[in-house]
Amino acid sequence: MNRRKFIKNSCTACLSATALTAVLSSCTSTRYISGTLGKDGLTVDANEFITKQNGKTTYRSFIIVRNETLQYPICVYRFNDKEYSALWMRCTHQGTELQASGDYLHCTAHGSEFNNKGTVKNGPADRNLRNFPVTVSNNQLFIDLRAI
Ligand code: FES
Repeated sequence: MNRRKFIKNSCTACLSATALTAVLSSCTSTRYISGTLGKDGLTVDANEFITKQNGKTTYRSFIIVRNETLQYPICVYRFNDKEYSALWMRCTHQGTELQASGDYLHCTAHGSEFNNKGTVKNGPADRNLRNFPVTVSNNQLFIDLRAI
C-alpha cells in the first residue's frame, strides 16, 4: 500500500468511527416516554429528565413523548425546573415528523430547522411549531393539549 492510499484509508476509517460514535451517542441519550394522557392533556414526571453520568445527577435537555393516541410526538425541552417547552413534532412546511437533535428540531424532507422554543431558524417552513402550554406542580408537568 502506498502512502497516499494509506492516508486515504486511515482518514475514511477515522471519519466513519467518529460519525458512528455521534450517531450512537445521540440514539442512546434520547429518552422516549408515553406520559399519562388525561382529558385535557398529558402528564409527565419531571424526573424523566434526570440522568446519571459518572455517578452525578444531570438533566437531559429534552425528552420525547410518543403516545399512540397522538398523531405526532411532542418534544419537551427543559430549561430549568420551572421552565419547559412542549413542541408538536410536525413540520409546518408539509407535515413531516421532525427529528430532535440537541437544541434543534430538523425536518428530513426539505431541511427546515426549528429551535427549542419552536421558532423557525431555516426554511422552507415559514411558521413556528405548535407550542403547548406547560405548567409544573409537585414535580409533574402538565402539557395542555386542548389547542390541538
Ligand atoms: S416538510 Fe419539513 S421542510 Fe418540507
